[in-house]
Amino acid sequence: MKKLYIKTFGCQMNENDAERVYLLLKDNFKPVDNPEEADLILINTCSVREKPEHKLYSEIGRYKELKLRRPEIIIGAMGCVAQQEGERLFERFPYLDLVLGTQGFYRIREALEELIKTGKPVAYTELKEDFKIPLVLPEDNSKKMKPKRVKAYISIMQGCDNFCTYCIVPYVRGREISRPPEEILKEAEELVKKEGVKEITLLGQNVNSYGLKESGYPDFADLLVMLFQIEGLFRIRFTTSHPKDLSEKLMRVIAENPKVCKHIHLPLQAGSNKILKRMNRKYTKEEYLEKVEKLRSLCPEIAITSDIIVGFPGESEEDFLETLDMLEKVRFHEVFSFKYSDRPFTSARKFEDKVSEEIKEARLKKVHEVQARITEEIYGSYVGKEVEVLVEGKSERDPQKLTGRTTTNVVVNFTAPRTGLEGALVKVLITEAGKHSLKGEYKKTLVF
Ligand code: 5AD
Ligand code: SF4
Repeated sequence: MKKLYIKTFGCQMNENDAERVYLLLKDNFKPVDNPEEADLILINTCSVREKPEHKLYSEIGRYKELKLRRPEIIIGAMGCVAQQEGERLFERFPYLDLVLGTQGFYRIREALEELIKTGKPVAYTELKEDFKIPLVLPEDNSKKMKPKRVKAYISIMQGCDNFCTYCIVPYVRGREISRPPEEILKEAEELVKKEGVKEITLLGQNVNSYGLKESGYPDFADLLVMLFQIEGLFRIRFTTSHPKDLSEKLMRVIAENPKVCKHIHLPLQAGSNKILKRMNRKYTKEEYLEKVEKLRSLCPEIAITSDIIVGFPGESEEDFLETLDMLEKVRFHEVFSFKYSDRPFTSARKFEDKVSEEIKEARLKKVHEVQARITEEIYGSYVGKEVEVLVEGKSERDPQKLTGRTTTNVVVNFTAPRTGLEGALVKVLITEAGKHSLKGEYKKTLVF
């Protein structure tokens, strides 16, 4: 067996792609944790924000010396940055062997054969509109005593058609393509049956528009209903939702079915209508608030999290204050905030009224401050309550404790009478709230 090392930087979608590569190569390669031992090293990166791109370059750089020592080692780049840079990466890094784009990585076996046959670097970076996402089924771990993992991801679609003006995704992941529902169902069933998975997170850039482009496909709400049928699956999560496509039908499915987690990631991006329009988000702040209100009236316990970009070109102090005001109005459980950065191909990179680095820094700090207070208040409100937690394993910080998440996606570390509860749904009494997690005491096991 040859040895494979994949280093992933970036989002859950990239992590899921890495998993698919492991499965595609599982007959000839086994995964290793140390790149020094590997026969094949893949660096898998996302290019949504600037940093991961730099990480790819420094990570490839790290392997130069290794390649000089062991020229037979194969080094490849995959993911969005590979898609974005294509064959240019070979000029920058002459010792790189493979560049596999966001559709191209599925042809990894073919790429390896071609590389070995021709001895020349191979790049697969075509983006096809009619690309069919291959079905890659999980490994069979059903004979093992312990469930291999509690949680898994399934990409239900690829690409995006929304063209928010700051965003590179439509250019590096291509047009939106939904996977056939029966394949998603089959993958989910196999994950539950063969790997003992209890919680599945459905991934897509905009899951709310799942199936809408294809004739005869269910919409996203109906897809969720199909997945409820799987016996042994306790929880379903999904990410990301675009506010403009969040339908009342979906809100009702979330509210009414206990298997759907009571959490939605609903990126707001900015609080000013002027900026939202320049971002091409296709909703106003009033429309966003209306959706939140409707959602909360149907499902009062739902946790809403969000993404915020500060310092988008043309963002004035007043515009920014509207973002802060939205944080106060919505009261998100948690917010991921970013300084605007120019990305290749996007239209915002050509906007002229750029905001200075100092102002972006100050605004980001302010968002952190305001949101930290709100998150603390919300987390504090859990104290004294009993919540359901899906046990993921031992807490990393304190191995005496177990860790898991509430249906609202908050991490809970708790004391338990015994270990071996991985994969169980348990009741926990929350005793203390921290900044990023909750602490509690085990009460009883609900389902195992
Ligand atoms: N600059 C800053 N943040 C960005 N994001 C996407 N593109 C950019 C950019 N050019 C953020 C958005 C998105 C999240 C995944 O990354 O908030 O929701
Ligand atoms: Fe990017 Fe907008 Fe598509 Fe999200 S919806 S992936 S931000 S273009």
